[in-house]
Amino acid sequence: MEQTVLVIDFGAQYAQLIARRVREAGIYSELVPHTISRAELEAKKPAAIILSGGPSSVYQENAPTFDAEIFESEIPTFGICYGFQAMAQALGGVVTNTKEREYGATLLNVEVKSKLFESLDPQQEVWMSHGDAVTKAPTDFVVTATSAGAPVAAFESNLKPFAGVQFHPEVLHTTNGQKVLEKFLYEIAKLKPTWTASNIIEDLVVKIKNQVGSEQVICGLSGGVDSAVAAALVQKAVGEQLTCVFIDHGLLREGERAQVENDFVKATKVKLVVKDEAKRFLTALKGTKDPEEKRKIIGREFIRSFEDAASEIREKSAGEIKFLVQGTLYPDVVESGHGAGTATIKSHHNVGGLPKDLKFELVEPLRTLFKDEVRKVGKLLGLPNEIVERHPFPGPGLAIRIVGEVTEKNLEILRAADLIAREELTKAELNQSIWQFPVVLLAEVRSVGVQGDGRTYGHPIVLRPVSSEDAMTADWSRLPYDLLAKISNRITNEVAEINRVTLDITSKPPGTIEWE
Ligand code: XMP
Repeated sequence: MEQTVLVIDFGAQYAQLIARRVREAGIYSELVPHTISRAELEAKKPAAIILSGGPSSVYQENAPTFDAEIFESEIPTFGICYGFQAMAQALGGVVTNTKEREYGATLLNVEVKSKLFESLDPQQEVWMSHGDAVTKAPTDFVVTATSAGAPVAAFESNLKPFAGVQFHPEVLHTTNGQKVLEKFLYEIAKLKPTWTASNIIEDLVVKIKNQVGSEQVICGLSGGVDSAVAAALVQKAVGEQLTCVFIDHGLLREGERAQVENDFVKATKVKLVVKDEAKRFLTALKGTKDPEEKRKIIGREFIRSFEDAASEIREKSAGEIKFLVQGTLYPDVVESGHGAGTATIKSHHNVGGLPKDLKFELVEPLRTLFKDEVRKVGKLLGLPNEIVERHPFPGPGLAIRIVGEVTEKNLEILRAADLIAREELTKAELNQSIWQFPVVLLAEVRSVGVQGDGRTYGHPIVLRPVSSEDAMTADWSRLPYDLLAKISNRITNEVAEINRVTLDITSKPPGTIEWE
């Protein structure tokens, strides 16, 4: 069994990021809730434990608690921020509300030789976010670092493989964050990096074979990386038993259908059924401008189209199809488990997907993976770069990037502008440096312009490049002005209906990534 680092979750956002960083270090990692007992934890046989940060103070009335008995075991343990303070308190140290919040980039002073900071600079920038501070380390712990607001900014046990830090090693603002985390994993917990794309594939192929046996499997492709990689894995595991379905709802970007029909099929040799349903979706969307209404219509039509395709395949193969492949990722699994209290901002996760009551059992080979791992797996499976490195694209497609009615004409305008933006981004080799680049057509708005000798009265296009780690929060990407100028010139020259190009400079929150 794969060695596992369990991250005890005191606040989902931090915890997920920690698990990702551990995996980047080549070791499998999963989240567990802070309510887990010592016995439950030990039953999972973790190779190490990390106590995550969290938004609370250990003194707060409803502060998340945990079973402090876990410290009686010998499992290597690393506390981060809130987890560090909880650890200090449970082991007899002192946590004080110093009334001095330390937030943001802070200078850390390494005070003594230590495993965590071995061969790193004695002064380094770290990211802090705390109100309370550990003012006394537990007995048998050495204080290895300090900062202006944290007299104990890191400690290590003399007796057990225990250590902790007040700062956040998982965020990129902490210069040596990944190195510190790796020192804990490799030097204190003595783990070896074995979680690699080829091991992941081997592992998943066996799991899929065991689940599916000799039954028939169906998979809906969206053109996106998740469904493509999920399908490629199932294809590798059970080959002939898999049939993929691609519903062309007419709301795709230029070239996307061809990519699936040609490149994906060539790379994987999957059996593919393509359904051209553009007319059906456009007819159903006629006259609709409301974003949620559009999503509902698309969701409904998508399910119907998929069901039609499935019954055709059933008839042809004269057999039952027992399984449906879905490209669910680990963050979706975590978020649906932790979902209580998180507001649904947009009803997106069921759009462009399929409802659970379709009469299939689900095969979800990517359930344990983060997006970057999915990409690595996809590359190793030989999928084309254009698919593996594709930005996320919403299930309802261009329909939610047209503010106004979805018509053939509007789709054509948006497709042309979107293609230019993508081409120029790729040419500038900045594709991988941003998360997503929606291009939005304001079909309801017109503005006056001048072109050649004449007055124009065209539509504006909005460029919405964003940087993000997980789409939960995002910032607008600072793309080079030259690139923006190029995109703007080309769009206004080449797309007759567009006479104005604007840049969206709103972060998320408050703005969402998509406009609808
Ligand atoms: P927002 O706009 O909520 O988007 O900031 C967050 C991420 O989700 C994608 N998105 C969707 N994906 N169906 C999908 O499959 C949807 O209805 C949908 N709406 C938004 C969006 O592209 C971004 O990556």
